[in-house]
Amino acid sequence: MKKRYLTSIILLYFFISPSVKAQTAKLTLDLSKAGVNVSPKLYGLMTEEINYSYDGGLYAELIRNRVFKDNPKEPEHWKIIEKTGGKGSIKLDNTQPLNNELPVSLKLNVESSNGTVGIANEGYWGIPVKPQTTYKASFYAKVSDEASGSLTVSIESNDGSVSYASSQVNISKGGWKKYDVTLNTASKIQPTASARFIISTQKTGTYWFNLVSLFPPTYHNTPNGNRTDLMQLMADMKPSFLRFPGGNYLEGDLFATRFPWKNTLGGLEKRAGHPSPWGYRSSDGMGLLEFLDWCEDLKMEPLLAVYAGYTLRGDHLEAGPFLKPFVDEALEEIEYVTGDVNTKWGARRAADGHPKPFKLTYIEVGNEDGFDRSGSYNGRFTQFYDAIKAKYPTLQIISTIGGKDDLGQRFKIETRRPELFDEHYYRTAWEMEEDAAHYDNYDRSSPKIFVGEWATREGFPTTNMNAALGDAAWMTGMERNSDHVVMSCYAPLFVNVNPGGMQWKSDLIGYNALNSFGSPSYYAQKMFSSYLGDKVVSVSGENIPTQTRNPTKKDSTAGRMPKPIPSLFYVATKDSKTGSLFVKVVNASGKAQTLTLDIKSAGKIAADGKLIVLKSDKPEDTNTIDEPKKIVPVTQKIKGLSKTFTRVFDPYSISILQLQTK
Ligand code: AHR
Repeated sequence: MKKRYLTSIILLYFFISPSVKAQTAKLTLDLSKAGVNVSPKLYGLMTEEINYSYDGGLYAELIRNRVFKDNPKEPEHWKIIEKTGGKGSIKLDNTQPLNNELPVSLKLNVESSNGTVGIANEGYWGIPVKPQTTYKASFYAKVSDEASGSLTVSIESNDGSVSYASSQVNISKGGWKKYDVTLNTASKIQPTASARFIISTQKTGTYWFNLVSLFPPTYHNTPNGNRTDLMQLMADMKPSFLRFPGGNYLEGDLFATRFPWKNTLGGLEKRAGHPSPWGYRSSDGMGLLEFLDWCEDLKMEPLLAVYAGYTLRGDHLEAGPFLKPFVDEALEEIEYVTGDVNTKWGARRAADGHPKPFKLTYIEVGNEDGFDRSGSYNGRFTQFYDAIKAKYPTLQIISTIGGKDDLGQRFKIETRRPELFDEHYYRTAWEMEEDAAHYDNYDRSSPKIFVGEWATREGFPTTNMNAALGDAAWMTGMERNSDHVVMSCYAPLFVNVNPGGMQWKSDLIGYNALNSFGSPSYYAQKMFSSYLGDKVVSVSGENIPTQTRNPTKKDSTAGRMPKPIPSLFYVATKDSKTGSLFVKVVNASGKAQTLTLDIKSAGKIAADGKLIVLKSDKPEDTNTIDEPKKIVPVTQKIKGLSKTFTRVFDPYSISILQLQTK
């Protein structure tokens, strides 16, 4: 019996064990093979006014409907306040324009001076109140003769029982005047967004208001600036460029509602605002110069998209004389960004407060012009291309069609060869993982690729861990091929998570008035861009585990079972200056995966290294405004590394191993 037992063990060792060993997944990294360069611009940001990204988001203005244009019928987001017997009324008034751009004012009629009467603004889902904070309020006012004296400007709780900050301002009779007020909160208050902004009086009379504004401290204390928490979240991603002003927001529903860059310059009293295609008005407080300042603050290069004569509702202009004004407008816009102070638009930029020209390398002509079924893009692109190249020969020009993205290759650019194609991918996690090798055999003779919008759309308002796994799988492919895929940016970047804040599901960063958080997709991107070498390392995989999806209706009608696809994705890059090696491994399956790493021609590998892991128990796990840090990367030191070692990669995990070569 004993002998038979021993024989079986021996048999098992010789026959079964090798086949078990053979099934262990293995990555072989070969540092002797010259890898392609990693594009220094691989990871950037894409932005537009959608999901209350600027108004009610990054742009730190707290007053909603500050110029009373949101609704022509009533002063939306404003209310009359009547306290202790005061009586009054409010309405929109077109008879007292501040100027041509801001023709509508809010008229407050105070009928009884027995108590306090005022106007209250509810903000973007509340006015955020934080302890020991200085807020800067300003407004234009015009008053009737009897109404002079002082106004009280305050931030108070929604029920009026608590005043968080208050200040008096003397007002004078006559025409429109601007008033500036500072409001300071005390140190012992609990942060809250259940608060409103009030301008009130105890004197009867008529008062008109326009451009009512309230700013908390902004990033770098820039006037008319951005929310500090959101800027910090972006800074942590180390983005190399910003694609702006959109997307659909660039195009607009109509010619008249395209991004009106000229009307977004200068003082706020000159900004009329415009309807965004996402169903609400844009204040244009985030104007062309603010986009550029944002780039400067985060050390990103601007990637400017210029309007190219096609609207979302399908109107277009054929190439020729009617398109010329739009081409000229684009040239002027480029001059505003890059021209020195002796040029017309460079001088305008200097007058707006930024004499130094901005560095600009990339211009995108339009957005998703594959949707223009008329086929006019080829001609439009050619006209823009020729005019831009004639004046700015070194600018690299991006075409919005021509690549092979999810919009399909609808048109070929026949007459001019762009430097880059902008490809867009919005997909499920499965689709991202299935196509993670998309660029491995991509035709290198094509123009370079800019993946100008992409996202795994699972989970909302922000994405979940399954989306992050799809994203990470997709990023391994872009990174491995970043000799050709030279730039990429996820979209959309932001969402205000309040009810009514979201127009597009599955976004990267969420917030309300008080707080913000990154989705698992955010952390995946932050990891990928933070741990990046300058050379791609050759990696070959053996016994890579697979996953099989449940058959869909489509699969079964075709009489096919879906094909298994990999469940483990990987890429490696090396920093040629420091010798650091970054190995990224994505385990999209619910099983832990054992992986042997064999590093050839590395010289020596230091025994100590670093491991950064983002993971969750369930793929649908996510971060929320109430649980913002449920899924965040965890960094640990690891020991015992060498040229060959084995590690177990957790289920549903994205891991980066940082190793030191010598
Ligand atoms: O990112 C949301 C929208 O998706 C963009 O505005 C548009 O370019 C794309 O269709």
